[in-house]
Amino acid sequence: MANILEAKFLKEYCATAANMYRLGWDERNGGNISYLLTEEEVKEVLDVNNVLRLIPLGFDAKELSGRYFLVSGTGKYFKNFVGDPENNVGVFRISADGQNAELLWGYKDGGRFTSELPAHLMSHIARLKADPQNRVVMHTHPTNLLAMTYVHELDTNKFTHTLWEMNTECIVVFPDGVEVLPWMLCGTNEIGEATAEKIGSCRTVIWSMHGIYCAGKDLDETFGLVETVEKAAQVYMMASSVGIKNRITEDQLKQLAKRFNLTYRKGIIAE
Ligand code: 13P
Ligand code: ZN
Repeated sequence: MANILEAKFLKEYCATAANMYRLGWDERNGGNISYLLTEEEVKEVLDVNNVLRLIPLGFDAKELSGRYFLVSGTGKYFKNFVGDPENNVGVFRISADGQNAELLWGYKDGGRFTSELPAHLMSHIARLKADPQNRVVMHTHPTNLLAMTYVHELDTNKFTHTLWEMNTECIVVFPDGVEVLPWMLCGTNEIGEATAEKIGSCRTVIWSMHGIYCAGKDLDETFGLVETVEKAAQVYMMASSVGIKNRITEDQLKQLAKRFNLTYRKGIIAE
């Protein structure tokens, strides 16, 4: 059996977390990533019959029973994943009754999955219905986006409109826009349900005064989505503090939509 430390999925996962830390998005234990793995990927490096321990989920995840996930540990620092993955992240399968995580590897110091697992797994359920290729849910605290939720109206349509205006590529990368949730208590099933309700139709959900949830078919695509939203928020924070004089117009957004053949979110720009 191959060594899990050499597995492409684990190396890429840890490298992504390191990159997010380097960008300043994941202070201390901020952020968490869940990655849906195929049984083939897991079987190459782990004995799937060797369950190390059961960890109760605290909610019903029956729709994901038998699925395998690589998930960051609660309280763990993204900067440490590369050097010591076995203590910081874990691989588990959702039990047949949907009540437990069957730990196959990791969380070696007795730890457990992120406190945000409800939002992650509920989001996976919603995304898989919208796109069977979806494999990644990423939560992080990008600095400029966070700042923007303190100074911009917390309205989904207005927030999307502003972000689309801040960089020509935005409407191309996230034509589905962003959903803005009000401040909610993190780590709860309630914020998980609210996130999942939005993320099925919109891959980016902003948690006001907290951070962002993005979903995608692989780590690069999902990271790229966060990166693009965060860059737009950075331009907004820089430009608005000096005074915005120029804008990408709605007509120009429509030209982009035509040029890139985009099905973009309705209700943001006048038809
Ligand atoms: P965890 O350490 O439990 O993953 O929590 C970090 C976080 O970002 C909470 O929203
Ligand atoms: Zn967080």
